[in-house]
Amino acid sequence: MLACRALEKSYATDRGPVHAMRGVDLDVAAGRYTTIIGRSGSGKSSLLAMIGGLSRPSAGRVVIEGVDIWALGRRDLARFRNRRVGHVFQFASLLPTLRALDNAALPLLLDGGHADAYDRATALLEELGLGAHLDAFPSEMSAGEQRRVAIARALIGEPALLLADEPTADLDEQTEREIIALLGRVHRERGTTLLLVTHNLALAAQADEVIHIADGMIVP
Ligand SMILES: Nc1ncnc2c1ncn2[C@@H]1O[C@H](COP(=O)(O)OP(=O)(O)OP(=O)(O)O)[C@@H](O)[C@H]1O
Ligand SMILES: [Mg+2]
Repeated sequence: MLACRALEKSYATDRGPVHAMRGVDLDVAAGRYTTIIGRSGSGKSSLLAMIGGLSRPSAGRVVIEGVDIWALGRRDLARFRNRRVGHVFQFASLLPTLRALDNAALPLLLDGGHADAYDRATALLEELGLGAHLDAFPSEMSAGEQRRVAIARALIGEPALLLADEPTADLDEQTEREIIALLGRVHRERGTTLLLVTHNLALAAQADEVIHIADGMIVP
């Protein structure tokens, strides 16, 4: 369902180009749970941002469900990103002036024509254990609850691919375990393909497959 081919990413800096990704080939079958590990600066976030349609590769291709995503125009890419890919980011990413319900429904609201956006957001938040917090603003929720709202927002469009880049970096160990367990449950129950970047080797080992990145390349 996901294929990366000869993927490269360079950033221009004052000190010349930084080669964050140096020719990555990666295949992930539908429904798999894959974790990505590697030292800080090895290129994990760069890889996920290219796969998620957020950051254009310097070279190479990302093919998701047969679609060469970086060959799409801006509008088509935005639509594809919104409909087929779910993102859970590091740290807080909710809009502070919106309730949990609005934050979770947002991708459907932006997509237009979803009369059931709030019903679906309510059902999803309840499923994720947030039924008592539907009307809460982010500042009124714990960090773990906020992260669960972000997971609901990532899932509301029923994406085929769920991308999570160190989604627990700022959480305590117990909450981290709960959030990773929740992502695992989503993967199992919905069959969502899950790509998770984590520093926690014990949690990484729960996946079907662990990919190790060093210095912009996949290492065996
Ligand atoms: N916008 C940018 N401009 C310049 N260099 C960048 C940029 N983003 C990342 N880099 C560089 O690219 C390399 C890979 O960064 P990346 O964020 O992908 O690493 P990472 O594996 O996600 O690290 P971490 O575990 O700390 O999140 C690093 O050397 C980093 O300094
Ligand atoms: Mg990173």
